[in-house]
Amino acid sequence: MKNPLSIGLTCFLIVFNTINAQTPIEKKADSLLSVMNIEAKIGQMSQIDLGVLCKGKICELQDPLALDTAKLRLAFSKYKVGSVLNCGCGFHALARERWISIIDSIQQANRLFAGHDIPVLYGIDAIHGANYTIGATLFPQQIGQAATWNPDLVKAAAKITAYETRASGIPWNFSPVLDLARQPLWSRFFETYGEDVYLATRMTTACIEGYQGEKIGELQVAACMKHFLGYSYPLSGKDRTPAWIGDRELRAYFLPTFQEAIRLKAKTVMINSGEINGTPVHANPKILTGLLRDELGFDGVAVTDWEDIYKLHTLHRVAPSLRDAVKMAVMAGIDMSMTPNDFQFNELLLNLVKSGEVPESRIDVSVKRILKLKLELGIEKWDADYVRNYYPIFASPDFASVATATVSESLTLLKNELRNTTSDEAVLPLKQQDKVLVFGNAANSIKMLNGAWSQTWLGQDERYVDSTKPTILSALKFLATDKIIFANAADPKSCRRALKSKPSVAILCLGETPATEIPGNINQLELPVDENTRNLAKQLKAMNVPVVLVLCLGRPRIITEWAEAASAVLHTYLPGHEAAPVIASVLYGNINPSGKLPFTYPRYCGDIVHYDHKRTEDNDVNFGDKGYNPLYDFGFGLSYTRFQYSDLQVKAAKDTFFISVMVKNTGSRAGKEVVQVYYRDEYAAVTPSVKKLCGFMKIYATAGETKRVRFAIPAMQLGDIGADLKPFRAEGELKFFIGTETKQIQYNP
Ligand code: GLC
Repeated sequence: MKNPLSIGLTCFLIVFNTINAQTPIEKKADSLLSVMNIEAKIGQMSQIDLGVLCKGKICELQDPLALDTAKLRLAFSKYKVGSVLNCGCGFHALARERWISIIDSIQQANRLFAGHDIPVLYGIDAIHGANYTIGATLFPQQIGQAATWNPDLVKAAAKITAYETRASGIPWNFSPVLDLARQPLWSRFFETYGEDVYLATRMTTACIEGYQGEKIGELQVAACMKHFLGYSYPLSGKDRTPAWIGDRELRAYFLPTFQEAIRLKAKTVMINSGEINGTPVHANPKILTGLLRDELGFDGVAVTDWEDIYKLHTLHRVAPSLRDAVKMAVMAGIDMSMTPNDFQFNELLLNLVKSGEVPESRIDVSVKRILKLKLELGIEKWDADYVRNYYPIFASPDFASVATATVSESLTLLKNELRNTTSDEAVLPLKQQDKVLVFGNAANSIKMLNGAWSQTWLGQDERYVDSTKPTILSALKFLATDKIIFANAADPKSCRRALKSKPSVAILCLGETPATEIPGNINQLELPVDENTRNLAKQLKAMNVPVVLVLCLGRPRIITEWAEAASAVLHTYLPGHEAAPVIASVLYGNINPSGKLPFTYPRYCGDIVHYDHKRTEDNDVNFGDKGYNPLYDFGFGLSYTRFQYSDLQVKAAKDTFFISVMVKNTGSRAGKEVVQVYYRDEYAAVTPSVKKLCGFMKIYATAGETKRVRFAIPAMQLGDIGADLKPFRAEGELKFFIGTETKQIQYNP
């Protein structure tokens, strides 16, 4: 029997060391917490939309936005609200100065009314640049950034986004989306880094490092990995509808990017609005506490998504009342409620604490995380004039040139065939003497280049379109003024005039109406193309005019008929404000495209199979293995030059595969190539994929240049998640693929 004295001493030492092991920020958070009453604590757990503080009705606000003193008093005096987000239902982009002054007023009102000096934490969706700040640099959406296969560009874009978000007075960015794009119908496909775990994880690393840096200062923002977990795979393809995802698949496909973000100390996480296997994630303690906290050790702030606590009652109907919904979500593990349009959350949670159904100790855990985040972001030092003067290169040409470089490396050439049967030249690059007819719904649209989350939530508001930015048409005219003729397919006169000009090439630009989330839901994967455009395309075909198809799409809509009829296909994804000149430069050959698809492009609506599919999905109707037949494969993209692979070498050391391959630029011009390493575990405890990406490197080679490209791939990286939900390493017969080369090895560590 141990003597009580030694037990007491041990306990004292544990407590003493724990307190002493506390960082200064933890100590400060504890001391703030110790003097807060329960109303103030609950206030820190509540987040409201900017619109709740402005004149006018929610989502029908007075424009331009104007703060309402009575509403400020209610929010901060009565409810001590700790966080505000976005820009009035996502409908009101603001100039940088306006952001600074509005946030300054909010901080002052908080100081005046709340009776404490805990600052308000402002959060915003700056998902492809500071897209709610007028004039900020807009980058390609994440899917286009993934198509660069260049993490350095993703990191640079994130750093600039962080700078311009901070320059707007905002320290918390609800980005990146780390969901995996495995459902092409899904309206937010474009917000992801594509379908592959390894590629998305590499881009995750780049983005979080870009946003948060080594240490968060005035040039960094708190990242928000979202939407945890399994949000991107709704069975129906419609946003926020049920996902049926087994635990093994959840861990094998949808968890790795979040694990990487947690490894990099992402400061916050936003929760998936949907349900997995019948349980809304906002009400799932297994995911929000068991997995996120206990297993993965995440100790940042977990914020709900929009109104998702209430939706446990109003939509998912797993909570018989709003009060039950608040209790469920808080006890499941959320820290902050993006309520965001009223204060019922505050009142209901206070009632739950007073009744003892939610212990105050549970509240303290969340509030401490929130206080720590605020202290780490240094927002108690808020000074509007300092913000006004501290970010001199906001929206600078240098930042725009990074966006240009990102677009340049994202554009993906998917097809480039001979102009016609009598020519021995590919249709691209265009010739200066070409007469070019330009048509299609994306030819003269800036909105279709940006997609949603561009000045406004859905990116559809003409008032905010930056007309100083070129469209594809205007950029082409800039390069080849008198050779470009636009045909408005809806205007017969315009079509007649254009056809009369006897074009030698036509460029058909097809896009989607910008949208996201539920407004972006579709009922068919096929890309709808209007009758007038179809008719004009038919006339051009009858005239044997080769067509170059330019896609401005956030998800792989079915375009098979158009791609097969075209002589060339260039995918631009949703390339952002600086895109048009780059697209024109690629079409005229001034830039050699080097983008590669970050997803498998399906040929048919009913044939959604990914590159990392299983052997059974290779089966075709003749019991052969030609069943996998996408329009374009994952990782595919052409160049204006050609690359030849040879001499693949694979050496397996104890914990590392040393792989190298020779790459030769056999064409007539310099270019960039993404050297991609795939592997196959021939036999495994769970059905192995026919191949999986395990490494890539983007190289540059001049015409005729040969390079040996080397990889050192940790053996632990090759493997899968077993039926026991534990990771296992690939071993036994392994095959490696790079370009046209393959190598089989026996690996028994
Ligand atoms: C939206 C989105 C989420 C976004 C949040 C705040 O519903 O799902 O990605 O960060 O609301 O705008």
